[in-house]
Amino acid sequence: MNNRYAVILAAGQGTRMKSKLYKVLHPVCGKPMVEHVLDEISKLEIKETVTIIGHGAELVKSHLGERTGYALQAEQLGTAHAVMQAEELLAGKEGTTLVICGDTPLIKSETMDLLIKQHEENHAKATILTAYTDSPAGYGRIIRNEEGFVEKIVEHKDASEEERLVKEINTGTYCFDNKALFEALKNVSNENVQGEYYLPDVIEILKKNGEIVTAYQTDDFSETLGVNDRVALAQAEASMKVRINEAHMRNGVTIIDPANTYISPDVVIGQDTILYPGTILSGKTEIGSDCTIGPNTEMKDCSVGNNTVIRQSVAHDSSIGSDVNIGPFAHIRPLSTIHDEVKIGNFVEIKKADFGKGSKASHLSYIGDAEVGSDVNIGCGSITVNYDGKNKFLTKIEDGVFVGCNSNLVAPVTVGKGAYIAAGSTITENVPGQALSIARARQVNKENYVQKLKNK
Ligand code: UD1
Ligand code: CA
Repeated sequence: MNNRYAVILAAGQGTRMKSKLYKVLHPVCGKPMVEHVLDEISKLEIKETVTIIGHGAELVKSHLGERTGYALQAEQLGTAHAVMQAEELLAGKEGTTLVICGDTPLIKSETMDLLIKQHEENHAKATILTAYTDSPAGYGRIIRNEEGFVEKIVEHKDASEEERLVKEINTGTYCFDNKALFEALKNVSNENVQGEYYLPDVIEILKKNGEIVTAYQTDDFSETLGVNDRVALAQAEASMKVRINEAHMRNGVTIIDPANTYISPDVVIGQDTILYPGTILSGKTEIGSDCTIGPNTEMKDCSVGNNTVIRQSVAHDSSIGSDVNIGPFAHIRPLSTIHDEVKIGNFVEIKKADFGKGSKASHLSYIGDAEVGSDVNIGCGSITVNYDGKNKFLTKIEDGVFVGCNSNLVAPVTVGKGAYIAAGSTITENVPGQALSIARARQVNKENYVQKLKNK
């Protein structure tokens, strides 16, 4: 088998995005475009991948990490010039090199694989991935001769009226014989409308040298969409969303309204889980089976067990167990662990808390910086007072505690096993296990006081 290499072009600023953020880092379904590209390449057997970086180099590196090598293109003089920067790492190697743009996030590994296979079977020096579209404006056009063989690629801005009518476009993905690629790159000039060194010019150069150049046509233009502006970004988002949602549905997840359900690529969802409209699942969220999520629920980097219901709520960076019932209108903030069979009801906020098995906070509570044991009942309106304006302190509520309504637990404080807190208490000292603690002013009834007032 041949040695295979890949080059990802990701050095451009992306002027047409009109953004502070470098183009290839714009997310599609929550993941930077260039990361989608690298993820797909990573599914193939590629010996070495080189990403060409320039604008936002450090940021791009921090997203892609060690899965790829890097070559710096300090000045962006065009796509051919970009590939040239990989010369030190790749030139002289025998094999096939896949070149792909960092702004084509929808191209699947299956398509890349078919392209590479056709290229190698034809013993071609170059194979272009092409697609057909009724709106080819902006793309390079594939110019074929009378026999139908590819002659060259003409950029939109350089194309004649007649050439602009061509509906077969260059997707910006190619396979090259590695040695022939780096040889041909030396002959690319920048004499064109944009004054750039165009990678597509390599095609005409190889062709003129009598080399075999072929094209692999995909029948799905949407997969090859190049994102140059925010309009295309929204189109990419829409296509990716359909792809992700369909994969979950085929895996046994019910999505009531796929058009209004947003799932990031790395999210995992178990069978027979139902997602209601307005659900947004992002990051590395993992949800078990038989859960009900939504409507209008946002979860990021959370894990959820089985048979859990989360309605109209927000949860971040937390772990939620099985048979849990959350919402409506709850907020689970980072670093919380919600154990099995818990109930978190409406207008309850949990932050950095361990909430034990079978415990309940059903209404209007704030539980932050806390360790809550199992089978605890937090009454309506009760809160942990975790912050003195400078530092945060821990509240410990041991197993089986009953916290009466509207109590304040002023941290640091521990409420021992099985204790009862009378409603309306402000607890500032530890409560021993099994004790009843009442910390509020005694009630005084002044008989007939109202009548006296009126007589004054
Ligand atoms: C390019 C192709 C065009 C094709 C289209 C497909 C050229 C000249 N044109 O056009 O034929 O139809 O892609 O989407 O190649 N980049 C660098 N360094 C540079 C310039 C660009 O790394 O000096 C990177 C960009 O970050 C981007 C990619 O190369 O990820 C493509 O560049 P872009 O300017 O978007 O090219 P297009 O005009 O879309
Ligand atoms: Ca582009």
